[in-house]
Amino acid sequence: MASLRAGPCQRPGERTLAQAKVLRETKQQIIILVNESESRWAPDGEEARALRRRAESMWNRDYFEGVVVPLLDVRPNGNALDVGTGLGSLVFLLSSVRADLSLTGVDSEVGLVEEANAAAQGLGLDRVRFEVADAASLPYEGDLFDLVMCQTLLGHVPDPTAVVEEMARIVKPGGAFFAAEWTDRALSALPVDNVLAPTVGRAAETYRLTKTYSEGRRILGRGNDEAGLRAPLYAANAGLEVVDVRYSDRLWHAIPPYAKPSEQDWVESARSWTADPVDADLSAWAAENIDAAGGTRDDVDRYVELTESAEDKRKWSDAIAAGEFGVVSTLAMILTFARKPVSHTA
Ligand SMILES: C[S@@+](CC[C@H](N)C(=O)[O-])C[C@H]1O[C@@H](n2cnc3c(N)ncnc32)[C@H](O)[C@@H]1O
Repeated sequence: MASLRAGPCQRPGERTLAQAKVLRETKQQIIILVNESESRWAPDGEEARALRRRAESMWNRDYFEGVVVPLLDVRPNGNALDVGTGLGSLVFLLSSVRADLSLTGVDSEVGLVEEANAAAQGLGLDRVRFEVADAASLPYEGDLFDLVMCQTLLGHVPDPTAVVEEMARIVKPGGAFFAAEWTDRALSALPVDNVLAPTVGRAAETYRLTKTYSEGRRILGRGNDEAGLRAPLYAANAGLEVVDVRYSDRLWHAIPPYAKPSEQDWVESARSWTADPVDADLSAWAAENIDAAGGTRDDVDRYVELTESAEDKRKWSDAIAAGEFGVVSTLAMILTFARKPVSHTA
């Protein structure tokens, strides 16, 4: 089965179809931001639309606006922090719904922070700013923010428990914690498209090998692929009251005739994935992870064969060319909504 694991911004060798899509979008945005003059960041300009599309590709806007934002229940003119913000997609999305909030995004990557600041400036968002900071040691005093949030960060840090504790520290008593994190990458063993029909045996083998890969990734401090499932517990252990746990109602999909821009992006990513040979980085990265979890060389070879199969790529490519390719992601984001008890002291 073709790999279809969500969770962008991992190491180059960890690229998957969904990740490649997000990484490419991110690169495109950076190129646009670096090469183009500020005026192209007019709120109704092409670049602003691209950034909004990126922000909204993770979310159905009606759900974000009608369900997520009300559940966050941030006071008027309050302040919020997005940890591991990347190019600020969650910040820009929230600011488009709650223009009254002062929003800060932090990331450990200087380049991303610079580009996010340029975007905010270009869009004239004077209540939005971005700073460089390490999620495990945030440079803010305790009890400072009405909302502290993250989106697809906890799966990428060596110690998500410590990061959530740090996030909890800087939430005001009565303030909100919000995490949107992927489910569990091994679920990508389930069928996702109308082209490949994996046998039960093959799906089971993919599941076992992906679990082994994930276990090694965790052991090596490269991240936890079950961060979404574990986030509510991290929050409870950090002294927060978990108010609700939900799925996002967004599933990435592309169904002919690919009417939505997000579907066209998806098909374009699928096309570029089918054109990619197996890359040496991917094999080396997979080998390290699987080895760390006690897997064998055969396990590594089989993992690469299953997730980067030339035969699968050819079938996808033929279906795309025939306009018959359909795909629905089997991964969803798990949303943890929590609140810091008013009695809590930092
Ligand atoms: C998958 S990306 C998500 C970006 C953004 N939240 C989004 O949804 O578009 C993960 C981000 O976490 C950042 N990151 C990873 N470890 C970090 C750390 N220890 N401190 C701050 N940011 C970190 C990465 O640089 C990357 O931008």
